Amino acid sequence: MSDFEPLRLGLIGCGGMGLRHARAVADMRTAGHRPVEIVAICDTDEGRRARVAALLSERTGREPAQHASTGALLDDRRVEAVDVVLPTSLHHATVLEALSAGMHVLVEKPLALTVSACDLIVEAAARAGKVVASSENYRRLPGNRALAALIADGALGRLDTMFVRNFAPPEPPVKRGEAPVESPGWYRARTHAGGYHAMEMGAHEADLQEFWFGAVDSVSAEMRAFGRSSSPDATEDLLTATFRFESGFVSNISFASTMRGFEIADRLLIGEAAVLSSAAWHEWQNGAVTWADGSRRSSDELVAAWLAGLAPDARERLLPDGAWTRGRDGSVATDPLSYGVGVAIHDFARAARTGTAPEIPPDRARRAVALCCAMMEAARAGAPVRMEQVLSGELCAAQAALNHAIGLSA
Ligand SMILES: NC(=O)c1ccc[n+]([C@@H]2O[C@H](COP(=O)([O-])OP(=O)(O)OC[C@H]3O[C@@H](n4cnc5c(N)ncnc54)[C@H](O)[C@@H]3O)[C@@H](O)[C@H]2O)c1
Repeated sequence: MSDFEPLRLGLIGCGGMGLRHARAVADMRTAGHRPVEIVAICDTDEGRRARVAALLSERTGREPAQHASTGALLDDRRVEAVDVVLPTSLHHATVLEALSAGMHVLVEKPLALTVSACDLIVEAAARAGKVVASSENYRRLPGNRALAALIADGALGRLDTMFVRNFAPPEPPVKRGEAPVESPGWYRARTHAGGYHAMEMGAHEADLQEFWFGAVDSVSAEMRAFGRSSSPDATEDLLTATFRFESGFVSNISFASTMRGFEIADRLLIGEAAVLSSAAWHEWQNGAVTWADGSRRSSDELVAAWLAGLAPDARERLLPDGAWTRGRDGSVATDPLSYGVGVAIHDFARAARTGTAPEIPPDRARRAVALCCAMMEAARAGAPVRMEQVLSGELCAAQAALNHAIGLSA
């Protein structure tokens, strides 16, 4: 059980990911854990509201109030915090509105569409004195936390480089035995998603890489749209980028979504003493560490050893009981508990209730957006860019159309 009163939460957005947030809350409750209670929900789409309301009613025994607009939900006096799970182009305005209404705010990744939009959130959060946190989930998966611990322990020796591939068909593949994950059309519209690989997917990679390797210093990137869509607002089909870190470490990512009938996603982290491999993108899964003498331990073994070695208080903070699925090998995107969503909600509720800092405060989430924007700025400029130039707003040409679309034109 949580050692604090459940936070009375309003869920804003009942689409694919909003449904997964609601399921994570219901699954945590089934596991005897109640960091939040969803007392109200909101979506402009009545059918989506009804689907989430029915799930919560059946699984938690409590029917949430339903609202058709964010304003109506923010006026609902039962709500003391909100969970924003809207298309990215709506994030910053909704977060600002919720802070003005006196709410704590959890917001899906990416924090906002541009660095300027993130700046407004960071400033407003500081002024309001409320908790704002990102529900970025990938770093919270046990495999990714275990990988961070191996790096911090120096188990791989001096780190040389990382290579990441994420090649998928244009539509998300449905794996045997899994429910389909919805992929809404706005993911492929730049003025709603920022970019598909550079932002919608890239936000995860940006957060993970700075979580593992520290601050990125400069970025070079190429992006291509191969003309499969006739829309001038269409996102890129291919992104390839190099991150140079302040430590001198260099990593390379290649993301593409053009081929039907073929997919591959993997990582290689090459260290002086060992090579770490992963046969999945979103989590260190189905992989191994191979040392120079040829000895090898699987990722399953190493993740289990890391979990077993965690002190009880660290485990409660990083992976609270009921907020993820114990004993499961690897996370599954269609299972919100094992996918890290419950952990993010739990961390936010604890921060709002007890005054501790959330794991991903807005300035941290802003850096992830800035790294995504740095890829877009570098691709546009055809030359490497410094993170500092993007964070300071000195470089913003690639974000101009996005800022215009969300009402932030100069
Ligand atoms: N962490 C992850 O792994 C992950 C995965 C997918 C999506 N996401 C993020 O979650 C967020 C939502 O994505 P999604 O896939 O759920 O999108 P979606 O399109 O499936 O859902 C968005 C919902 O918002 C509703 N909506 C739109 N405008 C609204 C408004 N003005 N007021 C109220 N409701 C409104 C829509 O009707 C829809 O139901 C995005 O920020 C996305 O990047 C995160």
